[in-house]
Amino acid sequence: MMGIQKVMVIGAGQMGSGIAQVCAQAGYEVKLNDMKQEFFERGYGVISKNLTRDVEKGRKTEDEKAAILARITMSLDLQDASDVDIIIEAAVENMEVKQSIFQQLDKIAPAQAILATNTSSLPITEIAAVTNRPEQVIGMHFMNPVPVMKLVEIIRGLATSDEVYKAAEEMTVKLAKTPVEVNDFPGFISNRILLPMINEAIYALYEGVASKEAIDDVMKLGMNHPMGPLTLADFIGLDTCLSIMEILHEGLGDSKYRPCPLLRKYVAAGWLGKKSGRGFYVYE
Ligand code: CAA
Ligand code: NAD
Repeated sequence: MMGIQKVMVIGAGQMGSGIAQVCAQAGYEVKLNDMKQEFFERGYGVISKNLTRDVEKGRKTEDEKAAILARITMSLDLQDASDVDIIIEAAVENMEVKQSIFQQLDKIAPAQAILATNTSSLPITEIAAVTNRPEQVIGMHFMNPVPVMKLVEIIRGLATSDEVYKAAEEMTVKLAKTPVEVNDFPGFISNRILLPMINEAIYALYEGVASKEAIDDVMKLGMNHPMGPLTLADFIGLDTCLSIMEILHEGLGDSKYRPCPLLRKYVAAGWLGKKSGRGFYVYE
């Protein structure tokens, strides 16, 4: 496997912008792709703000900040994948969208390139199946906020080769993160365990066990979680939480994973959490 130097990140949202930032910090050339220039600019703006904070806190110099930003270029066309070594896809959590992107990338990307996805829960094997290189498709699941969180779950699809696994693991270490190896089952490790807890917290609210603040306080102060589960749900995005619960429910076939009706109602209302200004809480 050729060494990885050039990276393309697809989706400049919460996750894609963070992934682009940590790749550029580690010295990779990064093409950050989204559908519209304004979406790229929003993500690039967040990266720039994070780096400014690092400069203010004395963790980086102005020159380092400028060099990191200079390694990130805008892409509005998947054809830009024609000369990269790895693509990390972080578009929306939707199987049709991801399969369409992977089908196109399979035709555009160099034969040896790795096609990685940051999906929270969609089966890697099913995404890989639409390509002619399933052995080069892998899950690289970063945690939110990417610049802060140390973990990357690396998920092997059914056909993923050992060589590709090793390349993803080495890249993760270069990004100053800790890789954990997981097989491809619904929700992997992280969301198989985290999302049922969040869903249960929503049920507790729905059933009137306590107020949202009380539920969050119990988990924060009683279990030392940095955020309560309802605050964390807003932070992740309620649409993403719902789609993960649906995948657990469908993929594992057990009613204990049924999404709480209140979660469905909020998503239907467009209350998607922090990113839309309102979820369980209201944000400016
Ligand atoms: N981007 C970059 N840096 C950020 C950030 C962001 N979005 N949010 C916070 N930070 C940095 C801050 O700059 C700060 O650093 P310094 O003070 O050293 O400059 C540091 O993180 C701590 O931030 P704060 O003091 O503002 O707040 P905090 O102590 O509450 O920490 C937090 C913020 C790290 C987000 C913490 O609340 C936390 O760990 N929350 C839980 C996060 C979590 O569980 N993530 C996983 C979600 S699940 C997932 O990602 C998988 C999935 O598929 C859904
Ligand atoms: P987001 O809504 O913040 O960003 C998604 C971005 O993808 C948007 O900017 C959108 O314009 C862009 N996009 C959509 N379709 C595209 C396409 N066809 N080509 C290029 N760009 C496209 O979402 P997010 O929270 O960053 O989530 C992205 C992915 O990461 C999802 O698969 C999600 O499940 C996963 N993930 C999310 C979290 C989290 O906590 N939010 C954590 C880990 C993984």
